[in-house]
Amino acid sequence: MSSNPKRRQQPRRRARPSGATPPKPAVEGQRLQKVIAAAGVASRRAAEELIEQGRVSVDGRVVRVQGMRVDPARARIEVDGERINVDPRHVYFALNKPAGVVTTAADPRGRPTVLDLVRTHRRVVPVGRLDANTLGLVLLTDHGELVHRLAHPRFQVPRVYAAEVRGTMSREAAVELRKGVRLEDGVALAHTVKIRRRAASRSLIEITMTEGRKHEVRRMLDAVGFPVIELVRISFGPVSLGTLASGKSRKLTPEEVGRLLAVAGL
Ligand code: URA
Repeated sequence: MSSNPKRRQQPRRRARPSGATPPKPAVEGQRLQKVIAAAGVASRRAAEELIEQGRVSVDGRVVRVQGMRVDPARARIEVDGERINVDPRHVYFALNKPAGVVTTAADPRGRPTVLDLVRTHRRVVPVGRLDANTLGLVLLTDHGELVHRLAHPRFQVPRVYAAEVRGTMSREAAVELRKGVRLEDGVALAHTVKIRRRAASRSLIEITMTEGRKHEVRRMLDAVGFPVIELVRISFGPVSLGTLASGKSRKLTPEEVGRLLAVAGL
């Protein structure tokens, strides 16, 4: 017993009535290794090794101890600097849009919409628009702030299009596209242009844009004299179309969602 007179006396605990069970301490959150495993990054055992190796951080701090509990809906969990957990309040999809499908919630002309091709009861909306006759990647989510940010030119999220054009694409035209082409609503410029294939009657190029004005790629290619035959969006920020079949959708992986949130500053 301490004889220090300055030490404050602790109030005595009241005795519990005999036979009463002690209240269980509330255990909040989930074990970190379980959250990492649930995100599909590694097995629980491998997740423990990642923690041991100092490759996991929670809210910006490296965690090396096992058994930490986290709220996966709130904490920012990163493995090797990449966010892996997803806010369970939202859903995120990638769709390979076929030609003839419109990127709106409802079409007055009765054409099929991108929402017809995504199986969810959640109120998802497309991120930006593709023309009815453009094919390829459309992202859809019910995360309103993410939709807003991804579509905003301030964030400069790169969208890559594969464009088949009429004619033999010249290097001069590619340079022109990068320097900026005058359109009726202002100058539009490509971030990068790669010529993939050239033939006498048609060429295949890859063009990266960081904004999304109406019919922008088609108008730009028209303006430099190489009208579009077919336009396909093959990536949007960190998400690629990959081998997703036309008309099919899939859920984004936690890593993809993490990278999307990161490019949007969320
Ligand atoms: N640019 C276009 O011209 N059309 C699209 O659908 C997307 C970008």
